[in-house]
Amino acid sequence: METFQSLLARELSRALAAAGLLAAGDVVPATDARFGDYQTNAALILAKQRGENPRQLAQQIIDQLDVAEWSAPPTIAGAGFINFTILPKALAAKAAELLQDDRLGVPLAERRHKIVIDFGSPNVAKPMHVGHIRSTVLGDALARIATFLGHEVIRDNHIGDWGTQFGMVIYGWKNLLDRAALARDPIAELVRIYKAANALGAADPAVREACREELVRLQAGDAENLRIWNECVALSLKEFEAAYEILGIHYDIQRGESFYNDRLPAIVERLCASGLAERSEGAICVFFRDIPELADKPCLIQKRDGGFNYATTDIATVDYRVRDLGADTVWIVTGAPQQLHFRQIFEIARREGYTADCRHITHGSILGEDRKLMKTRSGENVALRDVLDEAVVRAKKIVEEKNPDLAEAEKNAIAQTIGIGAVKYADLAQYRMTDYIFSWERMLSFQGNTAPYLQNAYVRIRSIFRKAGERFSLPNELILTEPAELNLARRLAQFAETVPQVLHDFRPNILANYLFELANAFHSFYEACPVLKADEPARATRLALCELTARILQRGLDFLGIGVPEKM
Ligand code: ARG
Repeated sequence: METFQSLLARELSRALAAAGLLAAGDVVPATDARFGDYQTNAALILAKQRGENPRQLAQQIIDQLDVAEWSAPPTIAGAGFINFTILPKALAAKAAELLQDDRLGVPLAERRHKIVIDFGSPNVAKPMHVGHIRSTVLGDALARIATFLGHEVIRDNHIGDWGTQFGMVIYGWKNLLDRAALARDPIAELVRIYKAANALGAADPAVREACREELVRLQAGDAENLRIWNECVALSLKEFEAAYEILGIHYDIQRGESFYNDRLPAIVERLCASGLAERSEGAICVFFRDIPELADKPCLIQKRDGGFNYATTDIATVDYRVRDLGADTVWIVTGAPQQLHFRQIFEIARREGYTADCRHITHGSILGEDRKLMKTRSGENVALRDVLDEAVVRAKKIVEEKNPDLAEAEKNAIAQTIGIGAVKYADLAQYRMTDYIFSWERMLSFQGNTAPYLQNAYVRIRSIFRKAGERFSLPNELILTEPAELNLARRLAQFAETVPQVLHDFRPNILANYLFELANAFHSFYEACPVLKADEPARATRLALCELTARILQRGLDFLGIGVPEKM
């Protein structure tokens, strides 16, 4: 099924060719609904190229356009925009078509890619904190959408399970461990011994040296240190998995930093042999002398003491994903502070001849009400688990108020869907680069651009169908007459245009905003147009619009990793 946008774009190309105008023209949703549904600035671009009058060119294009099947006669506006207004009968036909389509009109991608997406990727022996929400839910949403568009997606959790922190963790384990505390709350105890060793080391060079030696022993394969390391990794993974369970996140593979260990010496050798890397002050670096903004920022790949680092591992990671997994596309989702790092890694990959499309998808931070990085009262990072627990507790209170008679198990299930959905949506509805303030009141509100608002729209529709009982069947043909019906149908048709757009710049907020506008259009429709009390054929048409709205809300929220309850 083709979207109106792609139908119009195809017809525009044909018309441009027929008018003898060699140009590509884009059709986009109209910026101002008063002028129509779609517009193109093809005439403006051509006018600039040819030094001709844009409105005249627009008329030349219109003379060749044959869009009468879907659009009112195109009009020229402003300096030379061509505007299209979709006809009611075309909207009705589209809605009927969507009702028969499992994909709700969303086309498969023209070119299918094999994409490795690295997201979440928390560090072992550190608690997952609220900041991890962003990378985790953003990556999950992108993976869901890419999969639906037909790409082959490999979700990879690149956990930080190697590195200098293990010197301190192992030192702490051997000297400071409280077994009872470890049994009670393993991660808290790991963090405690890590911090304690760190603090002792800062004050006492002997401890610092002891930590360093533990790390060297681990890297040399010492059996006891490896056993301790393994146990720390296992304890952390359990904690991560508990969070993923609540969040509904799944990974296909989990290749942590340690996975690449054996490959690092060969990477450095290879880069030295090809002349891409060089020795500098005893260490080995890759310089980017020809790139002004990187000229004074070499990438260190082997330290003076022979140790490898985060960058070396990530060079090996590109190798593995492209060569071993056969990916042609790599997406890495992390916070903005890693921008320079990935700029360097991808530049090295390019110099080594890799042609895979590597993207660093960055995001901003979550702030507390004080507009600073969100922290607990004592200044610690806020544990992810605490946030998720609180979300469900708060949602449960809301469910209790709204629907006290539901069975306890049902209340709990609904609270889970609302609470977790609210946290995810608050994140995904923001442009990913924007820092946002974490606010329970706002994200759990039933008003405004929130998950509960969208879930509630869905629930409302489900209750219409429960009331309708058996007494309806969905029509093969819709008859749209009321402005609110037309407006809703217009929105429904835009779902298929919106979903692929999310991947252009990795912006699930585009989908979130679309869903919000869809829910608004539904509410206006529902206020203006009685559904169950309407006479046929309006009743059947309106039920069909309700059904489509519910399906799109459900599917759209699912793309964001958010569920819908049947009641709330
Ligand atoms: N563990 C890192 C962190 O917490 C993120 C890893 C991202 N992926 C990568 N290939 N470096 O910041």
